Amino acid sequence: MSLNLNLVKTASFINGQWHTSKNSPFDVHNPVDGSIIASLSGANKSDAILAVDAAEKAMPAWRAKTAKERSTILRKWYDLIMEHQDDLAAILTAEQGKPLKEAKGEIAYGANYIEWFAEEAKRIYGDTIPGASSNSRVVIIKQGVGIVSAITPWNFPNAMITRKAAPALAAGCAFVVKAAQETPLSALALAELGKQAGIPAGIFNVIVSNTSRPIGEVLTGDPRVAKFSFTGSTEVGKSLLAQCATTVKKTSMELGGNAPFVVFDDANIDQAVQGALVSKFRNAGQTCVCSNRFFVQAGIYKEFSEKLAQAASQLNMGDGSESNIDIGPLINNKAIESVAGLVNNAISEGAVALTGGHIDEMGDRFFEPTVLTNITPSMSVAREEIFGPVAPLIKFETEKEAVELANDTEVGLASYIYTRDIGRVWRVSEALEFGMVGINEGIISNEMAPFGGVKQSGMGREGSKYGLEDYLEIKYLCMGGLDS
Ligand code: SIN
Repeated sequence: MSLNLNLVKTASFINGQWHTSKNSPFDVHNPVDGSIIASLSGANKSDAILAVDAAEKAMPAWRAKTAKERSTILRKWYDLIMEHQDDLAAILTAEQGKPLKEAKGEIAYGANYIEWFAEEAKRIYGDTIPGASSNSRVVIIKQGVGIVSAITPWNFPNAMITRKAAPALAAGCAFVVKAAQETPLSALALAELGKQAGIPAGIFNVIVSNTSRPIGEVLTGDPRVAKFSFTGSTEVGKSLLAQCATTVKKTSMELGGNAPFVVFDDANIDQAVQGALVSKFRNAGQTCVCSNRFFVQAGIYKEFSEKLAQAASQLNMGDGSESNIDIGPLINNKAIESVAGLVNNAISEGAVALTGGHIDEMGDRFFEPTVLTNITPSMSVAREEIFGPVAPLIKFETEKEAVELANDTEVGLASYIYTRDIGRVWRVSEALEFGMVGINEGIISNEMAPFGGVKQSGMGREGSKYGLEDYLEIKYLCMGGLDS
C-alpha cells in the first residue's frame, strides 16, 4: 500500500521545524516482514534540550491566548486529522502492524481526544468561597501546569499522544513528546497536521530517536519541565518516576495491567464471548487494558471456553494493510519470544490449547490466536502481562472467589465482568481493585471517560474532565481588605 509522502516525515519536529540531527540515523520497520519503511534522523540529548528551550520560549504567548483561541486551533487540528484519517491509518498500520480497520479506529479515537479537549478548554472554571472574615473572600483559579513532557508507546502511536497533548495544549501548556522508536511516523504526521492547523512553533514538539535514556533524562530531569506523562510498562514507569522525583514534577503514569475478565453463570454467554474477543484480540492482544486472565464460573465454563475457542479460531490473521484482516503481527521478535515462552511454560505445566498455541506459519512475527484451559492462577501466563493474542481460562465457583482471584495482582488498570444480576454488578464493581470496570462491555476506552489505574498501574486519569485537571494547577487568591 502506498503512503501519503506529504505526511511521512523523517526528522524530529522542534520549534515548528523539521530538525535534522547528525547523530544516530535509524530505520522504521514494518512488523509484517521487517522491511524498512523509512530511515530517520535520530535526535540526541542536546536536541531534547532544544525542544524544551522552544517550549519555554513559546509557552507565554500560547498561555496568553484566550481559551477560545486555543480551542479553535485544536478543533482545526481535529478536522485535519479526520480529513486525513485514511492516510494516517495507512502509516500507522505500516509501522505498527494493526489491521487497517483498527488503525482507522485509532485515528478517530485519538482525534476525539483533541475534539473533546478543544471543547473543555473553554470550561476551565474556578471557584469563589466565603472568606474567613467579612472583609475577605477565597478565590480559586486554575492555570496550566507549565511545560509538559511525555514518553509514549508503540501500541497506540497516535492516540496515546493526543490524549496527553490535547489537554496540555487546552490548558495553555507547551508539550514535548518522545515518540516510541518503533512507531515515530504517526507522531510526526500528527506534528505536520498540527503545524497546518496553526499550532504555534514550540508548542507541540516531537522527538524521534532510537536512544531513549539520554532523552528521557532531559524529559524527566530538566527543571523547566513541570509535568511528565508516561504510558508504558510498570517497570520502566517506576524508574521514570524516580527520575522525576529529583525536580518534584507532577506525573501521570499509565502503566501495565493484568485485566481480569470475569464471566458469571448468569451472563449472556454469546455477549460475553463477543466481549472477550474484542477485549483480548484487539491489536493482537497488545494493549494495557487487554483481558489477561479469564475467570469463568463452573456452570458455564465448558460452553464459554468452547465458544471462545471457536470464535478465536475464525479470526483472520495477516498483513494488516490487506482487507478483512482481524489480527496482525506482533511488534517484534522479542514480543513473539515472550508470548511463545509464556504459552510453552503453561502447556508444560498442564495447560491445554483449545485453539492456537504456536507461532503461525504466516511468518515468525505472527502468533496464533490462542485459548488455554486448565490454567492455574500461579502460572506465569496468569501473573504476567501477556501482550499477545492468548486467553488463559481459570474456573471458579463463587463470587467471593472470583473477586479474590481478580484482585490478586499488584496492578489495577482495567477489569471486566459479565453478569445480568444488578446486585452483583454493584457488589463486584465496588470490590474490584481496578481503575476501570467494563460491565457487559469489552471495549471501554473513549474520550469522555477517565482512563487510568490504581495500585502499580499508575496515577492520573486521561480523557474526561478529570483528564484536564491533571494538566492544571489550583491557585488560591486570598482577597482581603474588602470592608469599605
Ligand atoms: C493502552 O494500551 O495503553 C491504551 C489502550 C486504550 O486506550 O484502550
